[in-house]
Amino acid sequence: MSRDASSPIGRRRALQIGAGVAGVAGLGAVGFALGGDGDGGTAAAYPEPEYGDPDRTYRLTASEHEIDIAGGDTYDGWTYDGSYPGPEIRALEGERVRVVVENDLPEETTVHWHGMTLRGDNAMDGVPGVTQESIAPGEEFVYEFDAEPAGTHWYHSHVGLQLDRELLGPLVIEERNPHVEYDAEHTLILDEYLPEEPRVESADGTDGMGGMGGMGGSFPGAPPAKGTLVNGALPSDPAEFGIAEGERVRLRLVNAAAATTYAVGIDDHSLTVTHADGPAVEPVTVDTLEIGMGERYDLIVEGTSPGRWPIRIAPIDSVAPAGRAILAYEGTTGGIDEGAIGGRRLRYPDLRSLEPIPGVEGSSDRTIDLELSAGGTMGMMGGSGEDGEWTINGQAFPDADPIRIEEGDHVRFRMRNRSPMRHPMHLHGHHFQAGEVVKDTITVPGHMGQIEFDFVADNSGTWLFHCHHLYHMETGMVRIVEYE
Ligand code: C2O
Ligand code: CU
Repeated sequence: MSRDASSPIGRRRALQIGAGVAGVAGLGAVGFALGGDGDGGTAAAYPEPEYGDPDRTYRLTASEHEIDIAGGDTYDGWTYDGSYPGPEIRALEGERVRVVVENDLPEETTVHWHGMTLRGDNAMDGVPGVTQESIAPGEEFVYEFDAEPAGTHWYHSHVGLQLDRELLGPLVIEERNPHVEYDAEHTLILDEYLPEEPRVESADGTDGMGGMGGMGGSFPGAPPAKGTLVNGALPSDPAEFGIAEGERVRLRLVNAAAATTYAVGIDDHSLTVTHADGPAVEPVTVDTLEIGMGERYDLIVEGTSPGRWPIRIAPIDSVAPAGRAILAYEGTTGGIDEGAIGGRRLRYPDLRSLEPIPGVEGSSDRTIDLELSAGGTMGMMGGSGEDGEWTINGQAFPDADPIRIEEGDHVRFRMRNRSPMRHPMHLHGHHFQAGEVVKDTITVPGHMGQIEFDFVADNSGTWLFHCHHLYHMETGMVRIVEYE
């Protein structure tokens, strides 16, 4: 069932813009525009990149590099600039950011800026075969985008299973006027420990099965994770995040895992959730939260209880060992305390965005029903498609119809999950509203779980909509959303 791990999402098209871009990038950080068809390109319908005068310029080199897991092994992974997680890219809300990506990998690659709206910048979305020709080994591509919306985001490869070789990093856009005050901040990248080459496997029995172990049969899924990492560290040599008594610390959580949902809690502390997938929400205080692949939450933790407390990261529906980092009060060293974690878990309806999306009240202009399922014999209740595939309305990408929307429409996606697994569904190029929360990735619960969200078709282009479980995406749970 495994496909070629190097295959990009989407079919390859032969277009040689790479060399032209590399040459231009060599000019340095000056404004320029790339000619439309001056470099021998075919008529492939990639959107035209537009370049301006960036406020910030970063450079990322994707290459094979040793990854040294704190508390674990050293293995050969793929990284940005030799580091895992990749270097932080940070900008102020509204700034223009340029990132020159150099590909030193043995395969083609692209980078996706997860959470950026990319208004008018469809060409910068990093989807191979859809928004750009992927970057060939030895070539560069210049990405440029407006830092919108503010919040905690991330960047990652959008080719095949490269995300799970650790081509990922944090992208933090600082808001100009934060709605909450805090004294310090830390970013926590949650991920699986998988010191091997990723490949699609059949998940049967336990890992990721959501309690369907007795059912027999198998679903395409991820190799079993060997642990849970916070910023590249296992619990035996954990990452430490400082706080002082009386301080308010902002934690930026990113679930960068390929295939695992996590529950997060901190002993003896509650979590005040302040942002969901970037945008601000009315602060809501809980004891734990669940975070799906691709989702982000920002929290404020108050320094009310000096000590060294575990930040616990528990994989859900997975046999992988839990992760742990330390909330370390100033002046403390040594052992780790143990406390209690209360029972109030965040639910989506607890979240109210401060700035709801205008135009998504009332009835929609276009409603699209999307049935999420496994193909063939594993589909529950009459699924279609093949074994070894994950499907939307019975079709596995790339053999799948585009979803068509029209500029200005109020669009509603209604998802229903006919499989036992959760599916964290992500829409590129738009934030959407589900109930009262504005997000870009939302987890549809297993076993006939249903979620609907609304958005305004206000960013014309060709965008992906897909499950952020990398192995579901790789085996078909993807659609293209096209403006008519
Ligand atoms: Cu973070 Cu299309 O993905
Ligand atoms: Cu999925």
